[in-house]
Amino acid sequence: MLRLYTRQMNGGKGVLMMLLCGWARATAQDASAACATCHREIAAVYRTTPMARTSSRGVVALPKQDATVGPYRLLTAGILQYPGGERKLEFTLGSGSSGHSYLFRRDGYLYQAPVSYYRSMLTFDHSPGYSPERLEMARAVEPACLQCHTTGMQPVAGTQNRFADPPYREDGIGCERCHGSGAAHRKAPRRGNIVNPAKLDPERRDSVCAQCHLTGAARIARTTPGTYQPGGRLSEHLAVFVWTASTGELSATSHYDRLEQSGCKKASGAKLWCGSCHSPHPVKAASYDAACQNCHATKPCTAGKKADCAGCHMPKGPSRTVDHLAFTDHAIPRKPGVPLTEGDKSELVSFWRNTPEVRDLALGYSVVAPTVAAVRPRTLQLLQKAEAENPKDVPVLAQLATFYERMRRGAQAAELTERIYTLDPNHQATLVNLGSERAKQGRLPEAIALWKKALLRNPALTPARVNLAVALYQSGEKEQARRELETALVWDPGSEQAQRLLDEMR
Ligand code: HEC
Ligand code: HEC
Ligand code: HEC
Ligand code: HEC
Ligand code: HEC
Ligand code: HEC
Ligand code: HEC
Repeated sequence: MLRLYTRQMNGGKGVLMMLLCGWARATAQDASAACATCHREIAAVYRTTPMARTSSRGVVALPKQDATVGPYRLLTAGILQYPGGERKLEFTLGSGSSGHSYLFRRDGYLYQAPVSYYRSMLTFDHSPGYSPERLEMARAVEPACLQCHTTGMQPVAGTQNRFADPPYREDGIGCERCHGSGAAHRKAPRRGNIVNPAKLDPERRDSVCAQCHLTGAARIARTTPGTYQPGGRLSEHLAVFVWTASTGELSATSHYDRLEQSGCKKASGAKLWCGSCHSPHPVKAASYDAACQNCHATKPCTAGKKADCAGCHMPKGPSRTVDHLAFTDHAIPRKPGVPLTEGDKSELVSFWRNTPEVRDLALGYSVVAPTVAAVRPRTLQLLQKAEAENPKDVPVLAQLATFYERMRRGAQAAELTERIYTLDPNHQATLVNLGSERAKQGRLPEAIALWKKALLRNPALTPARVNLAVALYQSGEKEQARRELETALVWDPGSEQAQRLLDEMR
């Protein structure tokens, strides 16, 4: 017993997706207020839309009586109880069109609650991707999540999920997320000195919505999140990969990929974009039928229909990534009712139609490799090629280390781990893994220091804390080891490993 040092897999993507409810917001906070002073009508319309309301402080859709979901109890006061403790929920993500999910904080570190509200069922259930079996109170909310759902997020550098107070400055998607900085425009208000997405060239225009609505099969950051600004080209900041053939999967962020596959898009190219059918702040009510008729007046529906075009040609289908959810199929199928194709998961291509850099492609494959076995040999080859091109590319080295680890090529994994540490002494998975290497070499004080450092990035990083406890125990610090395990259970009350070790130590 008390031997095993857990390793952390690199790049285990926090499951982005998503949740889901409805009730009014407590306060319509108006932080895009500076724009609203002049653009009053637009601001008033926009404030009521799902995008403007996609995040709020406090808990939206509180149950009218305490709600029980598995081992959890959501109290009417917005407190989530679990066996042995409770947390106050502080933020809500999701406007409620499909649902709400909730966030709680501890010492400034942000976590997602295991219980969400689903509008389709008008009730609470486990959050998407959460296991009903294990108590899950330790899912870190990383900046990417707030980047798509809030404005002006304030992450604390060098941590995985710590944010300043407040974690973000403005509820919802503020004006400047699509219009860029308004500083110059506010001083000299006129057309031409602020981004108007509709006036950008197609690539820059599409980039505005794609920052949040495009994930594809893999989304690889090329710059620090938040660097992209409206008016720029998203492809410089983000590599996005899709399978060569459609996989027909509908998800919260599949609208782009699907639209690309539509007959309309293929035939009309850059002319068709999200804005052809959606206006973020429609001052005059527009109908989807009118949007179709804009292009289809001359070549009408062969079935002779004159209305509800989308009702037949843009059917809703269940999401394959989240239960209880349905999304509109943006591939605009000709024959309604023909099921979506299964597609072919063998080759990834760049969504931007450019030739991707080897390292981006290698990282893209690394995202899908855990679930698509057939691409693993190719992934390894690409990672090795990328590593040869740039032996200092930390994300590539980290993925390669994981591959070697899984292939039981421990020496190579260890060499990479050492190299990553010299390049980025703050790399989270590496802190955990290098600690294990050091512990195996009997260098316990160094191992302990590495794990303590990892825990500053996210105190709920249970593998690091359990390892730390074992190392302390082996160094004779039994009381401290026990205390670390107790702390592990405060941050991650569902950890069976911490509980078991604690029982053994007692
Ligand atoms: C002091 C008043 C004022 C403020 C504050 C202001 N605007 Fe404007 N805005 C204007 C005027 C005036 C125009 C020109 C309208 C016209 O010519 O019809 C304009 C035009 C625009 C346009 C169209 C640009 C184009 O080239 O087509 C956008 C987009 C816009 N504003 C967004 C914003 C946003 C976003 C904010 C907040 C960051 C903001 N404005 C703040 C007065 C203001
Ligand atoms: C900063 C992130 C972000 C950007 C930029 C963004 N969206 Fe959204 N969008 C979201 C989120 C988050 C939701 C889900 C809102 C909710 O909670 O219901 C959403 C919802 C929507 C919806 C469904 C709800 C509705 O209003 O009917 C549409 C349509 C939409 N977005 C279109 C667009 C278009 C078009 C653009 C570009 C002009 C765009 N979005 C840009 C994040 C974004
Ligand atoms: C890449 C951008 C992106 C990221 C990252 C992301 N989301 Fe979303 N999320 C969206 C978009 C876009 C929608 C709207 C989808 C739709 O309506 O089809 C959405 C929808 C939702 C909804 C349902 C909203 C509603 O009522 O319609 C919830 C809840 C949600 N997200 C929570 C989260 C949480 C929690 C995280 C992080 C742990 C997260 N999302 C990460 C873009 C993102
Ligand atoms: C989700 C992206 C998005 C958000 C958020 C957004 N806009 Fe826009 N805005 C657009 C797009 C796209 C256009 C061009 C097409 C259109 O007019 O609908 C536009 C156009 C405009 C225009 C020019 C209208 C004209 O007459 O040409 C103004 C002014 C404007 N927005 C102001 C605002 C203000 C103020 C806010 C915040 C309250 C805001 N926008 C939020 C996407 C957005
Ligand atoms: C920007 C222009 C544009 C818009 C907007 C547009 N389409 Fe199309 N669509 C086209 C073009 C061009 C074609 C291909 C030429 C053709 O088949 O007539 C097409 C083809 C189609 C097809 C046949 C697809 C196939 O695979 O054979 C259907 C069905 C269709 N559109 C329905 C719609 C519906 C429904 C809407 C509105 C929700 C819509 N379109 C909006 C331009 C557009
Ligand atoms: C040809 C018209 C058309 C185009 C182009 C289009 N949409 Fe849609 N979209 C629709 C229709 C119709 C719905 C269903 C609306 C409803 O049910 O109320 C929809 C719904 C949505 C929703 C709500 C969630 C869902 O799946 O039902 C989101 C988010 C969305 N669209 C995003 C986008 C984005 C992002 C783009 C650009 C990549 C885009 N749309 C382009 C017609 C279009
Ligand atoms: C009741 C369901 C229904 C409605 C509503 C509907 N369509 Fe269709 N549409 C069909 C069917 C079925 C076909 C024929 C598919 C086939 O057999 O090829 C079709 C074919 C089409 C085509 C292909 C035309 C061609 O010659 O290639 C277009 C474009 C189209 N529809 C556009 C529209 C538009 C625009 C609207 C709204 C004004 C609309 N449809 C409303 C069911 C519908």
